[in-house]
Amino acid sequence: MKKLLLQINRKLMVMITMVIVVIIGVAGTTAPVHPVIYKNLKILPQDISREALHDIMEVQFGDALGVHCDYCHAKEPGADHPDFASDANPRKDIARDMMRMVLKMNTDNFQVAKPMIGDSLMVVTCYTCHHGAAIPDTKGKNPEVHDFGPPGKPGPVPGAPAAPPAPPQKN
Ligand code: HEC
Ligand code: HEC
Repeated sequence: MKKLLLQINRKLMVMITMVIVVIIGVAGTTAPVHPVIYKNLKILPQDISREALHDIMEVQFGDALGVHCDYCHAKEPGADHPDFASDANPRKDIARDMMRMVLKMNTDNFQVAKPMIGDSLMVVTCYTCHHGAAIPDTKGKNPEVHDFGPPGKPGPVPGAPAAPPAPPQKN
């Protein structure tokens, strides 16, 4: 009698184990881990991981320009937090243009085969020009030579001394 009970018990255990295995299997196929779906990426890869995207936004962009997220990202109407997919803030499209420029510089001028924003193989990055400022410093130590005034208005800026005559060309 005892032996029979033990055998039944063992069969029951085997069956329970199988049922559990099947349940786990079904759960695994019907509820996959959802990848992050970003809604409005035009330059970064669609399947970028949350970590990689955050690294680019916070470490690369934020640090290179010395700004916070809301410098480029418009607030959700009526809310206090940014709507990251929105393009309402024009700086976001400026940043996209800068991304295209940086990628092109890396391929055309520095022979980086497959440049990716955020990749350590990049030679030119946002930081190369911005150095922690939203508008890069173009004056340097010698403002008379380097300050060309506001963009679109070629220098010399009013009040600045005239540029020295070009030295004679040596052959
Ligand atoms: C210098 C401008 C700039 C800053 C600063 C910035 N972002 Fe972005 N962000 C962008 C641009 C440009 C895109 C779109 C990239 C593309 O089109 O591939 C983007 C896209 C995103 C997206 C994807 C939204 C979607 O669904 O399409 C998220 C999320 C995001 N940023 C979060 C952040 C966070 C968090 C911060 C601050 C830590 C931040 N960003 C700072 C420019 C910026
Ligand atoms: C080759 C130099 C250079 C590189 C590299 C560069 N930028 Fe810029 N960026 C500039 C200059 C110069 C300005 C200012 C233009 C102006 O005043 O009209 C600027 C302006 C901007 C602005 C507008 C700031 C404002 O307040 O008007 C944003 C946003 C920006 N850059 C983002 C980026 C991002 C993001 C990257 C990297 C993907 C990047 N830039 C790489 C030179 C550069």
